[in-house]
Amino acid sequence: MKYLRLMYLGLVVLFLACQHSPNSEKDASKEIDQQVDELLSKMTLEEKIGQMNQYSGFMDFTGPQPNEGKAANKLEQIKKGLVGSMLNVHGVENIKAVQKIAVEESRLGIPLIFGFDVIHGYKTVSPIPLAEAASWDLKAIQRSAEVAAEEASAAGINWTFAPMVDISRDARWGRVMEGAGEDPFLGSEIAKARIQGFQGDDLSAVNTVAATAKHFAAYGFAEAGREYNTVDIGTSTLYNVVFPPFRASLEAEVKTVMNAFNVVNGIPSTGDKFLLRDILKGKWNFQGFVVSDWDSVGEMVAHGFAKNGREAAKSGVIAGSDMDMESYHYVEQLASLVKDGEVDEALITDAARRILKVKFELGLFEDPYKYCSVEREKETIYNPKFKKDVLDMAKKSIVLLKNENNTLPLISSGLNIAVIGALADDKTSPLGNWRIAADDGTAVSVLEGLNAYNKNNYTYSKGADVVTGEKRFTRELTINNTDKSGFSKAIATAKSADVVIMVLGEHGLQSGEGRSRTRLDLPGVQQDLLEEVYKVNPNIVLVLQNGRPLALPWADEHIPAILEAWHLGSESGNAIAEILYGDYNPSGKLPMTFPRHVGQVPIYYNHKSTGRPKLPSPGEVFWSHYTDEKHTPLYLFGFGLSYTTFDFEELTIDNSYTENKTVSVSVKVTNTGRKSGKVTTQLYLQDEFASVTRPVRELKAFEQVDLNPGESRVLSFQLQDKELGFYNNEGEFLIEEGGFQVYVGEDSQAQLSNSFEL
Ligand code: NOJ
Repeated sequence: MKYLRLMYLGLVVLFLACQHSPNSEKDASKEIDQQVDELLSKMTLEEKIGQMNQYSGFMDFTGPQPNEGKAANKLEQIKKGLVGSMLNVHGVENIKAVQKIAVEESRLGIPLIFGFDVIHGYKTVSPIPLAEAASWDLKAIQRSAEVAAEEASAAGINWTFAPMVDISRDARWGRVMEGAGEDPFLGSEIAKARIQGFQGDDLSAVNTVAATAKHFAAYGFAEAGREYNTVDIGTSTLYNVVFPPFRASLEAEVKTVMNAFNVVNGIPSTGDKFLLRDILKGKWNFQGFVVSDWDSVGEMVAHGFAKNGREAAKSGVIAGSDMDMESYHYVEQLASLVKDGEVDEALITDAARRILKVKFELGLFEDPYKYCSVEREKETIYNPKFKKDVLDMAKKSIVLLKNENNTLPLISSGLNIAVIGALADDKTSPLGNWRIAADDGTAVSVLEGLNAYNKNNYTYSKGADVVTGEKRFTRELTINNTDKSGFSKAIATAKSADVVIMVLGEHGLQSGEGRSRTRLDLPGVQQDLLEEVYKVNPNIVLVLQNGRPLALPWADEHIPAILEAWHLGSESGNAIAEILYGDYNPSGKLPMTFPRHVGQVPIYYNHKSTGRPKLPSPGEVFWSHYTDEKHTPLYLFGFGLSYTTFDFEELTIDNSYTENKTVSVSVKVTNTGRKSGKVTTQLYLQDEFASVTRPVRELKAFEQVDLNPGESRVLSFQLQDKELGFYNNEGEFLIEEGGFQVYVGEDSQAQLSNSFEL
């Protein structure tokens, strides 16, 4: 009955919508506002609070498991209208069953919104987000998110908890795999591309999902890279580094924002009125809703901020956290807090309004089962048509770190190749840590990818396990620190080979949430394996698979060719094979600095200058450095080789800032090598002197072009207020007079420079 009523309501909405010009988005949004108001006027306080309550379903748990007693009556609570959303329920049949309870058995029949961590794919998996960021290819990244949205929405999902837009400078933090690296400009561009990919131009379309910019704020600055740890961060970094990707997400009209587990400068993000109400909903005028992270409301007690669950619920709602994920405190406490006059009901109404609005925008009131077509699910899940997109994304994500004497690309026939390393034969690890719906064993392994090329003779030898007992979301991941029993076979295989391809690195479950490390080396016995094999055959191509920057100075010194292949998803092995044989010329550029040693972390290119940045004269000690290691990175932000070479010249600046607030920069780039290739031209700016010191360099623009051998292109970039200014410690945006240096080239140490004055 209720479903019919909803269908009728839907038809009325549709009819009303058709009365207006199709491009009048404002009218449509007004209509939704009216519908939301109408619905709100019928709702009891408890039902409004119900909208603010999100439970995890029965399929996965992506946080600490809830207390069983509390978890038991979730479906009963849906019937009572006390639940607004579920996460971790997926698949059409499951979602339909739960939705049916909300729509047909609750008093007002308000549909649930179903959230899920569709981070880099649902079943067909793209590279981990950090790898995608290495492509610097915004179109490919957007397409990857579109594929994820199409597949997930076909499985009933209508809301993804992605993209993670946290900037991080600390490779020890396991979740760097989920972000776009260390740079706020690149991070902002990628955030927009991902949101556009997930949400499309029409949120109510059946193949798009609402996105989430997370985790607001500064989660990537956890002290010592230890997961969930305290964050103490200066205002300059907060405004200029942490905030920009969130602002960009709002520009891309992201529908939801997730708060963060961490404390920022003494206040848990979840209860931080300054962050959520003053900045996000106030200054930035965010109209969507804020979802808490998993039990982050409850965790305010452990943080020593709220005395108990009741106080936590009060802080959360006053600060502006609209939906409570899995802490139960909103549903248990808010009604009595309102009745006791401790929380203004207007705050509850505002939160419910924001949540209902997104549900209307998704079209859930027109048809609560719109994402629940069994046929569509069948034909969409693992549809081979997605392969080409995720393969394209995977190829573009690979970064060539070293290629001495043109070791790569390999010739395509007549070689005896030894393939060594457990990861070479692994069909699950390349899916990464955040592939919760994807089936184990569905990635193309490196070995399979190579054999499919069928051009050379491959002999595989594992050498050693990386980990054993890998299970998702548990601690049952044992690193192999001792077993070298496979070494002798691997060494014998390598000895007689023309080339050795060693696939080493981290298992896909060694990065991600809860996977911080104190070391950035090759886990377990892999470094020993590499060195032992090198002794008998130094002609090694090292293929790295990892979810964070690693510190591998020995490999850099000894191994002739090194390929950073991350965790590349479903098409991993095919992408790697194409690169090794030069059918795709590597174009990836590092989105995070790779250190020489873990002791250098946090290390990032856009740092401030110290007062003593350079060695004053040989032998002196009084300058900013280490006594036991260089202070420079092993591989720079923005760095990545190609099978061809590029040259940059004629860097010219047309400073017309006084006339039209624009500084135009142009540069000529030429392919000086013998192969066609893609060049990523990067523009960095240094504001030489400012009232708050500025970084030594900041990325402000980039562009990718494909060039044939000998071909040149002149590129031009426009720098305007957004690029020229910065936030001071009061959060005011300033453009200050003075000198600027411009650097253009292929990485963050680009030498070609010119200058201008404002
Ligand atoms: C905790 C993570 O921090 C967050 O990013 C994720 O979306 C939620 N769990 C839900 O799984």
